[in-house]
Amino acid sequence: MLRVADLSVSYGHINALKKVSIEVFPQEIVVLIGANGAGKTTLLSSILGMKTPDSGEVVFEGKRIDKQAVEKNVREGLCLVPEGRGVFASMTVLDNLLLGAHHNLANKDRNLSRVYEWFPILKKRKDQIAKTLSGGERQMLAIARALMSAPKLIMVDEPSIGLAPIIVNEIFEILLMLNKEGYTVLLSEQNAYKALKCAHRGYVLETGTVSLTGTADQLLSDPGVRAAYLGA
Ligand SMILES: Nc1ncnc2c1ncn2[C@@H]1O[C@H](COP(=O)(O)OP(=O)(O)O)[C@@H](O)[C@H]1O
Ligand SMILES: [Mg+2]
Repeated sequence: MLRVADLSVSYGHINALKKVSIEVFPQEIVVLIGANGAGKTTLLSSILGMKTPDSGEVVFEGKRIDKQAVEKNVREGLCLVPEGRGVFASMTVLDNLLLGAHHNLANKDRNLSRVYEWFPILKKRKDQIAKTLSGGERQMLAIARALMSAPKLIMVDEPSIGLAPIIVNEIFEILLMLNKEGYTVLLSEQNAYKALKCAHRGYVLETGTVSLTGTADQLLSDPGVRAAYLGA
């Protein structure tokens, strides 16, 4: 579904990604594991089209998209739930959701009712201002807003950051539920253990390069991963 080949991305003199290659197949949950500064956000935002790569390719459903505008990529089925959620705090839950629908207005009502089915709490809180939501509810809103564009691949940047462990479990349950509903998921995490428990495969990013890849089970039992990311 998604193929990133030898992607290099820089900020001025900082080479944030150096020839990164990853693949995501339909129906998979794939996790990018890496410490702060490893390049996770840069990779996800470059896939979406927010950053123009220096070299390399991004291919989505057989078509090169690395020079394509974000809007077009979203219309073609990509979406990104940004790090830190990025919900509009002073807008209502419903207005936040409708913002997510502006690429797919024709199916707005259908997408909204599906999102309310998956996130009943958001239906209950639809007229509340987003800043009154808990951290977990805000993450749900950010994911739900992304779903309003009816994506094929949902990318989620560090969904667990700043959330209590029990809420993190809920967020990963939601990603598993969405995967069962047919969504392909690419997420980034520093919370490697829980993410690998949820994912099929993973890539370890270290200072802008892929240092290791494998199935979730392989990575969970890899001594280097255990020492660096699982505290074991
Ligand atoms: N807007 C930016 N300007 C300059 N450097 C940046 C910017 N964003 C990220 N970087 C640098 O790029 C590297 C990768 O960052 P990032 O993709 O945010 O990593 P991660 O999401 O894994 O924490 C880091 O060295 C970071 O300092
Ligand atoms: Mg990041």
